[in-house]
Amino acid sequence: MEKVNCAVVGLGWMGRIRVAALGNSGAARLVAACDLDPEAAASLPEGVRFSTDATEIVTSGDVDAVFVSTPDGLHKEPVIAALRAGKYVFCEKPVATTLADADEMVNADPGGRLVVGHSLRADSRYLAVHRQASTGVLGPAVHTITRRNWPVSEGRRQQRQTTLALYLAVHDFDMLQWIVGSPIVEVSGVASRTPVPGLDDGANSIVATLRFANGCVGAHETSWAVPDQAGLDQGDHAFSYVGVKGSAYLTERDHGVVVYGSGSQFPDALNGEVFGVQTGMYVNEVERFLATVREGLPPLVTGEEARGALAAALALEESIWTGRPTAVAGVHA
Ligand SMILES: NC(=O)c1ccc[n+]([C@@H]2O[C@H](COP(=O)([O-])OP(=O)(O)OC[C@H]3O[C@@H](n4cnc5c(N)ncnc54)[C@H](O)[C@@H]3O)[C@@H](O)[C@H]2O)c1
Repeated sequence: MEKVNCAVVGLGWMGRIRVAALGNSGAARLVAACDLDPEAAASLPEGVRFSTDATEIVTSGDVDAVFVSTPDGLHKEPVIAALRAGKYVFCEKPVATTLADADEMVNADPGGRLVVGHSLRADSRYLAVHRQASTGVLGPAVHTITRRNWPVSEGRRQQRQTTLALYLAVHDFDMLQWIVGSPIVEVSGVASRTPVPGLDDGANSIVATLRFANGCVGAHETSWAVPDQAGLDQGDHAFSYVGVKGSAYLTERDHGVVVYGSGSQFPDALNGEVFGVQTGMYVNEVERFLATVREGLPPLVTGEEARGALAAALALEESIWTGRPTAVAGVHA
């Protein structure tokens, strides 16, 4: 197959990262893009067709593959329209915000065409731990600890279009199920009630415990209330895996380099740049998706796997509002 003709739907923060990755890829050609806001057209490279009508773009005859980068609750329509038109689809995480929507999307996939953007699976650091766990070097997981905290400006940007559990915790829930190799069966969470300037009342910081089907337990911390002046512009994320034969510790608070000075600029390992070329996990997952389209490689993250992470995130939501441990829908201990 020649270059994959791609379209991007939703040209916000993430959509523009996809546009940049496609522009740097030798395997793709960006032919069309869509956003509800006509002014988003100005962000596109020259020659890329633009429309405010997603259906027109995702069903277009000259498009092979579609990236759906709309807000969390707005993935379903363009994803299903594109799958029905025979396209490959890369859908941002979480696959949806309800299990009913996720099921409709998974059912619209004839097989192997829907990939979900659980990006940690394309981060070399998490891949390294996965390799050690899946080849038995670490032994079965005894317990895990995960942290995914973002500055309050990210909470202000996202709070009206998603929730903390669906936007952030879902990343770790997918990663944990992949690395521990077992589904999360029960979640128990508490949310902070401290008012945070600029954030609505609600769950802005959550601490949770997890039980996995294989007996492993986990502790998870997530927040979008970290003060901007802390300088953690690209988040504060960590992961520990304690296994029967070994343990692994990963921290991505500073991406390996800390610069002390005015502001807090440091290299971004997730979406960085080396010699003018975009690098990091977003590039890796875009290239891996293009290989699925060109060479028929299995999806890096299937719709069913993404549904599993969504089910755990929804159980966390239910637990913080009911105050009770919540079984994850459809998973048996
Ligand atoms: N993998 C990651 O690490 C990661 C990081 C950030 C965001 N995301 C995910 O990416 C998705 C987008 O997040 P974002 O931060 O870019 O949001 P955003 O608000 O910055 O951008 C969303 C864009 O979609 C457009 N839009 C909304 N409805 C549309 C429609 N029906 N048709 C066309 N365009 C439409 C909006 O106008 C906006 O420009 C979310 O699902 C989010 O969870 C993933």
